[in-house]
Amino acid sequence: MQTLTTTSLRIRKSQLWILDQQALPQRAEWHLCRSVDDLVGHIHALRVRGAPLIGLSASLLLAQLAEEGMPVADLHKALITLRESRPTAVNLMNNLDRMKVALEQRFHVPAMVQEAEGLVGEDRELCSRIANNGAALVTQGSRLLTHCNTGGLATAGVGTALGVIHRAHQQGKVSQVWVDETRPLLQGGRLTAWELGELGIPYKLICDSMAASLMAKRQVDAVWVGADRIAANGDVANKIGTYSLAVLARYHGIPFYVAAPHTTHDPHCPNGDAIPIEQRAAKEVTGVSGSFGDVQWAPVDADVYNPAFDVTPAELISGWVLDSGVVTPAQVAEGIFKRKFD
Ligand code: MRU
Repeated sequence: MQTLTTTSLRIRKSQLWILDQQALPQRAEWHLCRSVDDLVGHIHALRVRGAPLIGLSASLLLAQLAEEGMPVADLHKALITLRESRPTAVNLMNNLDRMKVALEQRFHVPAMVQEAEGLVGEDRELCSRIANNGAALVTQGSRLLTHCNTGGLATAGVGTALGVIHRAHQQGKVSQVWVDETRPLLQGGRLTAWELGELGIPYKLICDSMAASLMAKRQVDAVWVGADRIAANGDVANKIGTYSLAVLARYHGIPFYVAAPHTTHDPHCPNGDAIPIEQRAAKEVTGVSGSFGDVQWAPVDADVYNPAFDVTPAELISGWVLDSGVVTPAQVAEGIFKRKFD
């Protein structure tokens, strides 16, 4: 494979390295991924996270294993294991479906390398188009609220919702970003705050429960979030807490935008109820862990509900900002998401 660099992935001498998104922002630690077990462990621990990045890292690892001479039957098993590593973000399945086609070629090694490298270049391009399409919707002097992390860390390019914010900031239209800390795993407080700081974009970090009062005070002009899966009726799965922001935005008359590449769209999934939602460990809610250490505040035996994602119904979404353009609620009602995008 060629040398390759994104914010959180590197290929060096045909080896995959990943930036540990659990160690950030305190430490920038890179881990070498040698095996499927390595990468699945990193994905489960959210050291590798974000819908596009999960699919890209799995594809690059498969290409690496093919180059190292792994037999075809084992590559098929590896592909299935990687496909099952997280259930909600459909980018993983979409990317691996393409890698499977490459694996079935007569000369599968160059085909897989070309496909994996192509997916990375493609994601970079998709992010750039999303950023341009979305920035056109941002009005002068906007105060934008975002949830989770949808930036360069989560993609091969400038990001999705955060890419829009970045582009709109370059155009001089963003005065302030409100960053939801994003409990329980703090992707906003740890990662989005760090990325915005690196980009020189002014932000204020808030606890998730503060969004309502900010909206009531007319301090939020629009909400921008990413997506892990867009169903055929336009319902969107994204980080837990997204749905409550959409309800709040509707109540306060604030536009609520979803930014995602077409690789996040699943025309086979009829609606949000059919999207598999990952349930995660109790300890993520009873305390917090990171490069800063482990803290437990709840009773050790506390019973916990910890879904990683929720579903925002299409009726609460003002626009789906894709690489191909902005999809309107009227187009969704006409069934635009029932067809495949490419
Ligand atoms: O559990 P995570 O951190 O992988 O969840 C990520 C999100 O919910 C993002 O909003 C989504 O994947 C889009 S990333 C461009």
